[in-house]
Amino acid sequence: MSLSKHKRDWDDLGRVDPLWAILTSPEHRYDKWNIQEFFARGAAEIAHVMQHAGQLGLPRQRRAALDFGCGVGRLTRALAKHFDRCVGVDISDAMISKACEWHRDWPTCHFVLNTTGDLRVFKEDSFDLVYSNIVLQHLPSVGLIESYIKEFIRILTADGLLVFQLPRHIPWKNRVQPRRRVYRFLRALGVSEDYLLKSLKLTPMRMNFVPEARVKRIVQAAGGVVVSVERGNDIDQVYYVTRR
Ligand SMILES: C[S@@+](CC[C@H](N)C(=O)[O-])C[C@H]1O[C@@H](n2cnc3c(N)ncnc32)[C@H](O)[C@@H]1O
Repeated sequence: MSLSKHKRDWDDLGRVDPLWAILTSPEHRYDKWNIQEFFARGAAEIAHVMQHAGQLGLPRQRRAALDFGCGVGRLTRALAKHFDRCVGVDISDAMISKACEWHRDWPTCHFVLNTTGDLRVFKEDSFDLVYSNIVLQHLPSVGLIESYIKEFIRILTADGLLVFQLPRHIPWKNRVQPRRRVYRFLRALGVSEDYLLKSLKLTPMRMNFVPEARVKRIVQAAGGVVVSVERGNDIDQVYYVTRR
């Protein structure tokens, strides 16, 4: 699938039900998230990451952090407690425009739209922390996941820390994703995203995975080293990476 179709999916989700598209529990569908609770979850997640990062002694400095696939800025604003400057980057216009609107009074948070399969918009050695949660798993191909991981390491400072989540496995029964296929088919016929998401309860969201051994090879080839792996549920992993 092309990156432009992938972008259209996330524009649809960002327009119709952005908070549910980010944290997809069924009881929160159709604007049912309490916004305080939604942002509090982000703060708790980042507090845990920073605690683990502290145990690893990384990053050495806290000047700038990047939140890749920032959505409406749930994690970007949580990172703002720990870093002088935080940048959220996302492929979806709808998500970025909400992130900007909701963080007008957060002078150290900046939001950038990036619709390319790389991060050339950022120079080497730009960020002490690069963070990404529940993003890589939704990308359309393992090749694209690999490209972004390489880019994360390129833009990381020498004693910085890259943290990203990625499933290591998806059971066969969950790989077919029929609701996504029907969504794409009907959307291509011109059916509105509102109707598909709200009335038919379909979703364009894809799920991908990369086995741990392959992630480690990708990281190593890009000049990084995995210093810690946290296992979440039975399929999820969070990788902590620094530059070699
Ligand atoms: C499930 S949401 C997670 C948002 C955020 N990480 C959080 O946990 O609050 C996934 C986000 O990744 C973004 N995304 C998907 N593909 C992307 C890409 N290639 N580059 C940047 N952002 C992307 C989507 O637009 C969406 O905002």
